[in-house]
Amino acid sequence: MAGFATNATRRPAVSDLPAPTAFVPTPEQESALTHPAPLLVLAGPGTGKTTVLTHRIARSILELGAEPASILALTFTDKAAAEMAERLADILGAAGRAEAAHEVCVGTFHSFGGRIVREHLLELGFDRAPSVLTTPGSWQLLSAIFDELTFEAIKLTQSIGQHFGRLLKLFSACKDSLIGPAELASFAELLTRQSGADVVTEHLGNQAAMLREAAIAFDRYERAKRERGLIDFGDHLYLPVRLIRELPGVGGELRQRYRLVFVDEYQDTNHAQRELLMLLLEPERPNIVVIGDDDQSIYGWRGAVVENILRFGTEPVFERRAVKRLTLTLNRRSRPPILDLANQVIAAVGNRHDKRIEYHPKNLTGRATIGRRVCASDRDEGEWIAERIEQMHSEATAYEGKRRGYGAFAVLCRRRSMFGPICRALDRRGIPYELVGGTGFFGRWEIKDILSYL
Ligand SMILES: Nc1ncnc2c1ncn2[C@@H]1O[C@H](COP(=O)(O)OP(=O)(O)OP(=O)(O)O)[C@@H](O)[C@H]1O
Ligand SMILES: [Mg+2]
Repeated sequence: MAGFATNATRRPAVSDLPAPTAFVPTPEQESALTHPAPLLVLAGPGTGKTTVLTHRIARSILELGAEPASILALTFTDKAAAEMAERLADILGAAGRAEAAHEVCVGTFHSFGGRIVREHLLELGFDRAPSVLTTPGSWQLLSAIFDELTFEAIKLTQSIGQHFGRLLKLFSACKDSLIGPAELASFAELLTRQSGADVVTEHLGNQAAMLREAAIAFDRYERAKRERGLIDFGDHLYLPVRLIRELPGVGGELRQRYRLVFVDEYQDTNHAQRELLMLLLEPERPNIVVIGDDDQSIYGWRGAVVENILRFGTEPVFERRAVKRLTLTLNRRSRPPILDLANQVIAAVGNRHDKRIEYHPKNLTGRATIGRRVCASDRDEGEWIAERIEQMHSEATAYEGKRRGYGAFAVLCRRRSMFGPICRALDRRGIPYELVGGTGFFGRWEIKDILSYL
């Protein structure tokens, strides 16, 4: 979650920006570009992972003659997918093959899964393309079927809004782990059989009863979606994986179509995404390049499983072709004090690959100051931030011609509740900003009020 201020009035014109320099790979990048797949590039921030990935895709087309349409390039977030598509378009465009960039299938796992769903409507039991359920839509649907559900083990002590939120979170977590209502019900059954009279097993019994009710609600919710021709976010992966597992021809056709698979930001994938990826590979020649940084796994709260990248290569599909692991060590983005601090912070985290990061010579000159300030209150903090931005504004205007003026500042907050005092202080000084990740629909007080009346 982040809030940042950008200069809404003055963005750098294209002519202000330095001309793009030709890409000259470092020796370690060269290995990552050319080493035969299957390949895992596990490397730290700003070391050129996305650069290598996009150049490797371009190289497959330009030098090795791969059909652009046979290439699948996936990542987790819309932002990362857009960055990958843009960089690829730049490289191919510069080589006079702009049209090829449109043929490569670049997108998020979800958009790719959605495409599979649309291509196999009949096999999935839809008579027309399903509409995608938004979060408010999921709440409405749950509300519509609520009277048909019974909650005894699950106590309705909280507001109904919280109850809906918890149920939908459970359904979504199940989908991310490829667990449907039947599997959830079987798990509840298993727990019931384990439970008995002593305190621990009695506790298990209570949990089982709650899960049983949740599984019934899940089943009803799934049927309600079906009846209305709807799918939700989790279905974009759940349905394709089920389909490929049940109809081998579908997987065969996809493997035939996508001969080369690339993944960026693999550290943020969940269980369903990993399964889908494995189903797209031929055990005879798993032609895949996966890139990521386990230290940047930030989507745990959305089901990301960092073990996906740490254990990549141990899956059965790689039994005949071992995955080569490479690393990149040269960071081009940050100056030494920033890298040193980042390294110190991350060193304290367990379950990670220790990665060496080297400074790029260009970053050894110039300033990078990290400071710490303790403020007496949120209001003081907001005031201090706004004051510093105002003071530094003239300096920022001269910043290497890249992002100028207020666009050179970013304010990151740990919690949304901290936005208020900072925004008010910026407003008081007339500093323009753009707020990213503000209160969502369900966090707005008027919506909370309505929900608590339901
Ligand atoms: N060989 C190179 N020559 C010049 N610039 C490079 C080279 N390799 C990478 N860069 C530049 O370094 C910066 C960081 O590269 P990139 O975004 O690919 O890193 P990354 O490892 O994907 O970062 P992140 O960890 O944020 O995903 C970019 O501006 C990129 O253009
Ligand atoms: Mg990257």
